This record gives sequence, C-alpha cells and structure tokens, in this order.
Amino acid sequence: MDAINGTSAKTATLNIGDKSWELPILDGTIGPQVVDIGKLYGQTGMFTYDPGFTSTASCESQITYIDGDEGVLLYRGYPIEQLAEDGDFLETCYLLLYGELPTAAQKADFDYRVTRHTMVHEQMSRFFHGFRRDAHPMAVMVASVGALSAFYHDSTDISDPQQRMIASVRMIAKMPTLAAMAYKYTIGQPFVYPQNELDYASNFLRMCFSVPCEEYKVNPVLSRAIDRIFTLHADHEQNASTSTVRLAGSSGANPFACIAAGIACLWGPAHGGANEAALKMLGEIGSVERIPEFIKRAKDKNDPFRLMGFGHRVYKNYDPRAKIMQKTCHEVLGELGIKDDPLLDIAVELERIALQDEYFVERKLYPNIDFYSGITLRALGFPTSMFTVLFALARTVGWIGQWKEMIEDPGQRIGRPRQLYTGAPARDYVPIARRK
Ligand code: SDX
Repeated sequence: MDAINGTSAKTATLNIGDKSWELPILDGTIGPQVVDIGKLYGQTGMFTYDPGFTSTASCESQITYIDGDEGVLLYRGYPIEQLAEDGDFLETCYLLLYGELPTAAQKADFDYRVTRHTMVHEQMSRFFHGFRRDAHPMAVMVASVGALSAFYHDSTDISDPQQRMIASVRMIAKMPTLAAMAYKYTIGQPFVYPQNELDYASNFLRMCFSVPCEEYKVNPVLSRAIDRIFTLHADHEQNASTSTVRLAGSSGANPFACIAAGIACLWGPAHGGANEAALKMLGEIGSVERIPEFIKRAKDKNDPFRLMGFGHRVYKNYDPRAKIMQKTCHEVLGELGIKDDPLLDIAVELERIALQDEYFVERKLYPNIDFYSGITLRALGFPTSMFTVLFALARTVGWIGQWKEMIEDPGQRIGRPRQLYTGAPARDYVPIARRK
C-alpha cells in the first residue's frame, strides 16, 4: 500500500562497507512511513544519530495527527477546526481518552465524573502557603501537581485500568482548581471552591475571578472562548512535553509525577512558555514603527532574539490553531468592547510583514498557536505569568491520554536513548598530589 509520499517497498536496504541489511518499512494510516531500526544496533553495532528527533518517530500512536506541510491537525481523525467550532473541551477530552466521540449519555456521564473530581484535598491549600506570593505560577503548578501523588494513593497503581482512568479523570478535573489556586495565591485573594452546577470553563473563570464580596456572573461568550482555547491546546503528537511525560511514564512513575514532568518541560520559552514570551515581545516592540528593527534582529544570526510565537518544528504552513486563536481573539476583544488593542495592531502588522519577508518565507516560518493566545488571555483578565499555566491545564488531557496509550501498549519498555560519545577515552586516576 502506498502511504502518502511513501513507497510500496516493504524494506529499506542499508549498505555499510561490503555489508548490507534489510530494515522493515512500516506504514501508518496516513502520513510518513517509518524505517524500523529497533534491531539496527544488534545487527550493525551502530546507533542512529538524531538530536532533537527531527527525523525520528519515538512511538506508534492513534491519538493525534499533524500534517505540517498542509497545516492539518486531527484529534482521533477529527479536524481541529470542527472540534473547536462545534464541540466543547470535555467532549474533546472524552475523544482523546476513549478514541470516539461520546454519545449524549456518555458525555453526560463523563461531565458528571469530571465535575465530581474538581475539589482537591483540603491540605493541598496549606501546600501553596509555602511559596512566596511572587512565585511564578508555573513553579507552583510543577510542585502542586507532583504533590498530588502524595494524596491519591488509590489511583497510582498503573497496572490497574480502573485506577489509570480514575487518575486521568482526576488530573483533568483538578488542573483548573490548582491553576486557579496558583493564580489566587499570587494576588493574595482567597481560594474559590469549584461549583458543580457550572460547566468546566465557567467553573475555571469563576474560581479565578470571583471574590467573596460579590456575586460573579460568568460571561457565556468569554466562557465559550476559553473552552475553545482549551480544545486548541489539548494535544499535539509527540511534542517536547508529551515526550517528557511518555519517557517519565516508561519507568513506571505514577501519572501525577509524569504530568508534573510535562509541566516543567512545557514551561520553556521554546515550547509552551512562548505565549508568555510572545506577549512580552509585542510589548517590547511597543509600536508598529519599530517592527522592522525587530524583524532585522530576528534574522541576525548573532542576535539570540527570535520572533516568539513564530515557527514550528512540524508546521511548515500556518498552524491551524493560530487561525482559530486569531478569530477567538477578535471575538473576545469585541465582547469586551476593546476597540483597538495596540498589541493586537502590532501582532497583525508583524505577521503581515513577516509573511512577506524572504527569510521567513524561505524557512516556512508562520505564526503558531502562541502568537495570538497571549493577547486573548490578557484581554480575558489573566496576567502574563498565567498564560503557560492555561496551556498546561489544557494539555493535561493530551499528556494523560498519551501516557495511558503508552502504558497500555503491550510492547512498552523503558525509554533509554543511546549517544555518540566524544569525551575522553579510558585513562587512569591521578592522585591529587601528582596533578600539575
Ligand atoms: C509550541 O512541538 C509542538 O507541537 C509544540 C507546540 C505544541 O502544541 O505542543 O506546538 C507548542 O511549542 C509552539 C512553538 C512555540 N515556540 C515559539 O514560538 C518560540 C519561537 N520559535 C522557535 O524557537 C522555533 O521556531 C521552534 C523552537 C518552535 C522550532 O525550532 P526548530 O524546529 O528547531 O527550528 P530551528 O530552530 O532549526 O529553525 C530553523 C530556522 C533557523 O534558521 P537557520 O539556522 O536555518 O538560518 O528558522 C529560524 C532558525 O534561526 N527560526 C526563526 C524562528 N524560528 C526558527 N527565526 C526567527 N524567529 C523564529 N521564531
């Protein structure tokens, strides 16, 4: 069967010197084929070498598919545009976890199960008080999610399918509560308990923005917007943080600890931290007139500055999520009566100029999901430091779904990459008295 851009050959021939080996070629449902090199070292005594995994498939998965050249993103085969438009985040969570869209009864049951796991152990609130108030909320999230391992011993036996699903539902349910607590703690306001009669996104907005002194009314347009933003961020194949979760999980670590590892990885500015960095960059540019100066810096190899929110390892076309995020940004600003947001003007003009510039065109650098998310989240009332926390909240379902898929894979083994060693050859110890 010819996979797209593939070959009908079933093996690849590797010739080294006068020897040759046949390596199996495996087909996916769609997308690039793979050459199975699992036995290469045993056969040839050689490793492959691919820092950054630019040409390496680390696993087989049935959850998410990206066609970077076409700018396509599918969750279990469904296009992100349709899920973001017609579904809601918990429906996407069900789809990612179970593999199929839920019936009305299944959706109602799933919503019910998630809603009833939204509270955290009361002692978790004391855990927060060990932090300085100015701690970055991502530091708080790494620590508090890892700390969940200390509270939920009845869902850490990863060999029990029941416990794996309870842990998955608990993670999805408790992330908004912990994220809201991290936010409230930094602004010195009391924690707000979840309300079971609210939907997932509305509950989160209320836990973040309500205060004891007055009733909080959820704005349905804003709640729908944040729900859609969660759907856009839910999963994305084997990105750096998902690969971190898989590697941590491959040792048998409990799911809470694995998600904490994923949060730590997502924090980096090259990954999930880019939404925070992109907004800071727009603020640093400050005016449309200064855009050419920053475009020049982004192209200068001697300048570490990069256009944050631009470029992607896989997308060599427009990130489909960025288009939906841009539309959501306009919706939110419109609902809030924000006529002209100077940062949005800079973002739109920066995008226009970059997409015409040879440097970006040649390297197929387009806006990614982080380019417009910061402006939207800021308009919704979140401080910059909470942007990556919201990314982590939404990506938790992707992480836990990929973790579950890995644990349930009968061929699963601990991940243990090898290396190209270029250090010192073997040499004898020299006592300190004899060192020069
Ligand atoms: C996310 O993997 C995922 O799926 C991630 C994610 C998800 O949902 O999980 O999509 C979320 O992390 C989105 C990406 C957010 N990061 C940023 O916006 C940070 C800015 N972008 C870059 O740092 C970069 O584009 C990466 C990290 C996203 C991708 O880096 P790659 O694939 O390693 O690409 P590269 O660094 O090899 O760049 C290729 C060329 C280089 O120029 P040359 O050496 O070929 O001359 O493009 C240039 C780079 O210098 N380049 C940029 C650029 N991104 C790449 N130049 C200026 N500005 C940029 N943003």
